[in-house]
Amino acid sequence: MGLPDELAAITGRGHVFTSRDVLEGYVTDWTRRYRGTAACVVAPGSAAEVAEVVRACARRDAPIVPQGCNTGLVGGSVPGQAGGAGVTIAELDAHARLAGFGYGVDLGSRDSATVGGTIATNAGGVHAVRYGYTRAQLLGAEAVLADGSVLSHLAGLTADNAGYDLAGLLAGSEGTLGVITAARLRLWPAETALVVMLTGVAGIAAAAALFAEIRGTTGRVRAAEYFEAAGVALVGKVAGLPLPLAREYPAYLLVEAAGADAAQQLAELPQLADAAVAVDRAGRARLWAYRERHTEVISAAGIPHKLDVAVPMSELGAFRAALATATMPHKLIVFGHIGAGNVHVNVLGPDPDDERVDEAVLRLAAAHGGTVSAEHGIGRAKVRWLHLSRSGEEIAAMRAVKSALDPSGLLNPGVLF
Ligand code: MLT
Ligand code: ZN
Repeated sequence: MGLPDELAAITGRGHVFTSRDVLEGYVTDWTRRYRGTAACVVAPGSAAEVAEVVRACARRDAPIVPQGCNTGLVGGSVPGQAGGAGVTIAELDAHARLAGFGYGVDLGSRDSATVGGTIATNAGGVHAVRYGYTRAQLLGAEAVLADGSVLSHLAGLTADNAGYDLAGLLAGSEGTLGVITAARLRLWPAETALVVMLTGVAGIAAAAALFAEIRGTTGRVRAAEYFEAAGVALVGKVAGLPLPLAREYPAYLLVEAAGADAAQQLAELPQLADAAVAVDRAGRARLWAYRERHTEVISAAGIPHKLDVAVPMSELGAFRAALATATMPHKLIVFGHIGAGNVHVNVLGPDPDDERVDEAVLRLAAAHGGTVSAEHGIGRAKVRWLHLSRSGEEIAAMRAVKSALDPSGLLNPGVLF
């Protein structure tokens, strides 16, 4: 009996896919830059089935790539050349809202990104400035380890300091330590009186200064997003949206805040040149579209080199200026979560396999005191540059954890190390 048949005996035949057409969508990442091969895809229906599947693969030394909905952007959720199930973020948030709560992580791929995948990548998203990254939402986790054993700690006590934070370790492990099958998540009281403001700014340093001012004076700031004229032009061209303000600006800052006084406080900011403000749901969505549609319109224009870096707020201006030179002569589109100093650098033009621009941008971020991965993770894309953000001692400790939990290296080989 081959592996697919053995797995079908565990999950049922309808949960094991081997046809080339079906596999194609699972072995190619969202950017189309990373592609691998797989013998089959299996979608187990419970933690017990995941454990049996992992044991069956381990018996045959078959590597495993855990995958949520494959929305990752660094090749971390697809197999290398050697080489289900889940609740989406939108479903989770809608469910929490029925009880007057909300989930702290929100991102453009909310309708397809799954909770398991976003835990594995420690996803950040647009509300990280208020609620933190996914790790901050995690009160417990259940995961199947490489030997098929099930690690489960779902009690959800906030006062619980009995040893290592294993759930926290799984967050951001990118599928290299276990397959996450359940989680206990923190929820936040649903916020009301939301306001979104979009304003024109001179550049990233001006946007950072304005954000600092807004944070000091305005209600509860839930998002602070940055984008530039090049991205707005592409959103206009590909998605057909008109200019967001009366005239074009070099860059834009979008802020979302909550609270009865937030709209008034934003309107009173003396330094706003030109701004659009929306308090109703449709108006807010209309303003958010200029930011949220960046990813899809960039992808429609080509296969982007996506570098997700963060630098200290004080370095944003100098980093952005140097970026223009480092990415020449290619098309550069910059946007990101400015509240966290997180800059999404998208470069269109170089061949997908040509890593020179990746190298230049990541080294530049490191030289400005930044990190090579702010929220997307290391995946396969940035393995070569992990050392720019982590010391030899830190990488050795990470490797020790990996080999203790997965001594044969079956889980997501080629990712992270
Ligand atoms: C975003 O902030 O929109 C996501 O991280 C996706 C991307 O970087 O394209
Ligand atoms: Zn992002």
